Amino acid sequence: MNMNEPGVALSIDGVVATVLLDRPDVRNAQHPAMWAAIAEFLESLPAEVRVVVVRGSGGTFSAGLDLSLVDPRQTEVAGSLVETLARSDQEVIDLIGEYQRPFAALADPRFISIAVVEGYAIGAGFQMALACDLRIMADDAWVCMKEPALGLVPDLAGTKPLVDAVGYSRALEICATARKVGAEEAGRIGLAQSVVPAAELDSTLTGLVGSLVAHDATAVRRTQELLAAASSRSLDEQRLAERTAQVGRLRAVLGR
Ligand code: CAA
Repeated sequence: MNMNEPGVALSIDGVVATVLLDRPDVRNAQHPAMWAAIAEFLESLPAEVRVVVVRGSGGTFSAGLDLSLVDPRQTEVAGSLVETLARSDQEVIDLIGEYQRPFAALADPRFISIAVVEGYAIGAGFQMALACDLRIMADDAWVCMKEPALGLVPDLAGTKPLVDAVGYSRALEICATARKVGAEEAGRIGLAQSVVPAAELDSTLTGLVGSLVAHDATAVRRTQELLAAASSRSLDEQRLAERTAQVGRLRAVLGR
């Protein structure tokens, strides 16, 4: 199992960039080289890119962290977390900060990110889907926050978007039980914005991308910035941010 190779295909086609998790033999299990490649790609995207699509190859999104990284018998694998624990707590905290980079980058309001979830998104897979602004799920897909069942916590920037999407109580129930959440429920509780038969995922994605890029790029970006920051601001702060952003928009639209 080669974990020196990123195992991810990164491409740009006009205004759409695609991150394809591409380790189908191990269900697109994730590892540090994959995260580094995705972070570098997202952090250096050209300004023209308006949408980032994240999906997995082979009919699944991602089975989460590559479990060989936490297998004490496999300390020779690149990025072994077992080996990492020889370092100080602060060094481990800093390293996990590096691993969180692509998850933070997916939330960058420079673009709208869409996770296309087929099969399942487990642990780090679920957190990568949560890092995206929008989720489209196949109707037979499921997600699972497996970490507590392994004695761990979700640490790849997934807890905040989960709480934002479904509220504290439902997020707690989903995480503490580590249960599978099916697509129908995911759609109903606001985890997925669209749930469609697997055969319709591509056409649904194409339609959504077309609608998302149909309007003025700056107006959509400024609106996204406002919405993304809304929950961390007071109403007065948000009102100020709205009118400040609108001045620039009015000048652009009216040419004054
Ligand atoms: N890491 C490494 N290899 C994995 C993997 C993972 N997370 N998930 C699956 N694979 C491998 C299997 O070992 C198997 O390899 P072999 O063909 O060499 O035997 C291959 O992928 C296919 O797996 P299955 O035969 O199990 O396929 P399936 O379709 O029947 O089941 C599955 C798929 C439900 C994902 C099941 O494999 C599974 O439960 N995998 C483990 C999921 C998991 O616990 N992930 C970690 C979550 S925690 C996390 O991500 C974050 C964190 O911080 C800890």
